[in-house]
Amino acid sequence: MTVKRTGTVFLFPKGGKLFSWLISALEKIGKPFYWIFLGFFCFIAWIPRQLIKRKPKVKKILVTGGAGYIGSFTIKALKEAGFEPIIFDSLEAGHKETVKGYKLYIGNLQKDKFLLEKILREEKPAGVIHFASYTEAGESVEKPQKYFINNIISFLNLLQAMMKYQIFNLVFSSSAAVYGEPKKVPIGEEDFKSPINPYGETKIMIEKILQYYDKAYGFNSIALRYFNACGAALDGFLGEAHPHETHIIPLAIQAALGQRKEFRIYGNDYPTPDGSCIRDYIHVIDLAQAHIVALKSLFAKKAGFRAYNVGTGKGYSNIDIVKMIKKVSGVDFPSPFGPKREGDPARLIAKVDKIKKELGWQAKYSDLKTIIKSAWKWHQSHPQGYNISQGRKK
Ligand SMILES: NC(=O)c1ccc[n+]([C@@H]2O[C@H](COP(=O)([O-])OP(=O)(O)OC[C@H]3O[C@@H](n4cnc5c(N)ncnc54)[C@H](O)[C@@H]3O)[C@@H](O)[C@H]2O)c1
Repeated sequence: MTVKRTGTVFLFPKGGKLFSWLISALEKIGKPFYWIFLGFFCFIAWIPRQLIKRKPKVKKILVTGGAGYIGSFTIKALKEAGFEPIIFDSLEAGHKETVKGYKLYIGNLQKDKFLLEKILREEKPAGVIHFASYTEAGESVEKPQKYFINNIISFLNLLQAMMKYQIFNLVFSSSAAVYGEPKKVPIGEEDFKSPINPYGETKIMIEKILQYYDKAYGFNSIALRYFNACGAALDGFLGEAHPHETHIIPLAIQAALGQRKEFRIYGNDYPTPDGSCIRDYIHVIDLAQAHIVALKSLFAKKAGFRAYNVGTGKGYSNIDIVKMIKKVSGVDFPSPFGPKREGDPARLIAKVDKIKKELGWQAKYSDLKTIIKSAWKWHQSHPQGYNISQGRKK
């Protein structure tokens, strides 16, 4: 074998037998060097294999609306599960405090399509969790345009960008609002869906779009239909701070804190044991975990569109809630009965066998005492919510 040398460049013989050339070169230098080189070579080849073994590639997950209530718990759960959450939020109803230490992009899905595309192109997330939405069912009846434009256009922009960059894994925040007034309870995923407000309509429209995308493009998605999200972190550091609160637990706690003079219970003659409405309450920590199992399932198999109820299968009445808040806070605030509200069904309870069977998920923190104790701890330590006031413009 001949080795020609031209300046600093080695030219190998025709056929390029690099390895045998190296061996013969080393043999010329001498045996001890030969063994040292061989050992060094093996060591160098061994290191990357060890690194690959020890450090599995961390999957990035884009979380739209990740600075909001449920989003803030889910990004924490994602990190704990070994994912890297990347947050995209307009901060219209979200809070910067909840995303400290995470990568945050401030933008509006309705308008900032270029930013969204840049993020997908550069961050290359393996999947997306889509929370970003307006969320008040009552307001959506008065301002349907606000809801259709934000919730639907934002979603379509996201979907278009995901298609462009071939990101086919999505967990979507759907809602029990897709069922409207159910004909029977507990409500199963296949039961009749007939939303009674524009908010619920936006959720079912998005689910339908996802079904078409599955059929046409093999788009892989899971819609999680949450029942009543509630509660706070057990250490009291994260909690519910909607700019315009409409949920029963924070409102009744405000009465216990003296921030409102009473808490009104709407209706006491429903066909339920105590006459007040019954709802299925799901602790936000359990809800966050449901996103982790959903995401893992999307990565494990291509199963097209799937929908799951996220609840407990049990219900608590409005009176149960108020009683527990009085007990935990030790404050006997006024809680008079008001008239029934239109479109408030007597009972909304989820059937939860499907998510348990297929995703292995089950609520752990959603007993009423844990829910109220955690919410009380949060509201007591954060009477004005997070410090930044980024109130939604009405
Ligand atoms: N809270 C519940 O009980 C409940 C029940 C069922 C379903 N959901 C759904 O869960 C999701 C999260 O609810 P939440 O209670 O955490 O609400 P939230 O208002 O706290 O969070 C929504 C987040 O989305 C952001 N956002 C809204 N529009 C946006 C846009 N166009 N671009 C970028 N960011 C935008 C907001 O700033 C906010 O941070 C929503 O989709 C909601 O419909 C909530």
